[in-house]
Amino acid sequence: MSAIPVVLDVDTGVDDACALLLAALHPGLDLRAVTCVGGNAPLDDVVRNTLRVLETAGCGGVPVGVGAARPLLEEPVDARHVHGSDGMADLGLPAPTLTPDARTALDLLRDVIEAAPDDERVTVVPLAPMTNLALLARVHPAAFARIGRIVFMGGGARISNATAAAEFNVFHDPEAAAIVLDACATHDVTVAMYGLDVFYDPLVTDADVEGLRALGTPVADLAAGLISFHHRRFANAGATIGDAGAVAMMLLPDAVRTERRPVRVELTGTWTRGRTVVDTRDWSGDMHHDPHGLAPAQVDVALGIDGPRIAELWLRTVRGEV
Ligand code: RIB
Ligand code: CA
Repeated sequence: MSAIPVVLDVDTGVDDACALLLAALHPGLDLRAVTCVGGNAPLDDVVRNTLRVLETAGCGGVPVGVGAARPLLEEPVDARHVHGSDGMADLGLPAPTLTPDARTALDLLRDVIEAAPDDERVTVVPLAPMTNLALLARVHPAAFARIGRIVFMGGGARISNATAAAEFNVFHDPEAAAIVLDACATHDVTVAMYGLDVFYDPLVTDADVEGLRALGTPVADLAAGLISFHHRRFANAGATIGDAGAVAMMLLPDAVRTERRPVRVELTGTWTRGRTVVDTRDWSGDMHHDPHGLAPAQVDVALGIDGPRIAELWLRTVRGEV
């Protein structure tokens, strides 16, 4: 099977870095570009971290586009309490020698999407607030319509983290998430949601980290540093590979159970702003009593996952075994 052409949109971030390593190194994926957005850390840190990961992976040829520094409406709020003060585990890595592409994230996304022939359309993988993709839908709608598939990390049918109702990426820019889902419905772009219902399941243990350190390669050392940071920060024996699971989902589709469901984003609720409202009702009944009707966006929502299998794929990739 030929490699899947992908573009990652990131707010690197410890788990975005795990996702970048998988996308850059696994032969089943063809990483065409990476675009950056403010989120886990301020945009400048995100760009530096992203370039650092690609340089460590030996993928200096992958163009990196600089995108939005803040959400469409919300004030920027970072997650450095989760990802470290530099946004990527405070590993003390040297500054990258790579530099970002001269194009903005929007123009880079447009160019990469439009350059792909019809039979190998690009999968766009937002692992961050979806500000860049929402802007693409508004500024370059024809490019958005040519996207082959969107697989986004965000939201949750039953689980939240940023608030009692919302997941961080969607909570950070709910208008962007709503615009992207609306544009998927308008342009009939297939969209999958890798949300918190599965996000925490693929775990990497202390023993896995020791095995990575014993390899002594730059990639394995970086992977070990990322995971062990979360072990220490959250005092857990296992740390999730987070965003990397959304990338792995493309390589092991049978390891993730999805249901195609209508999904809306709550924009006005005092306590629920940013919630992904996943409609799990059985629609064999009538709709006369529901003033809202079906959400336009039909989303493949991930509701079950073989966590160990997904984690093992990531480990084998950063060990250089695939
Ligand atoms: O809620 C988890 C998401 O928020 C992940 O993408 C993490 O990197 C942060 O961006
Ligand atoms: Ca992220």
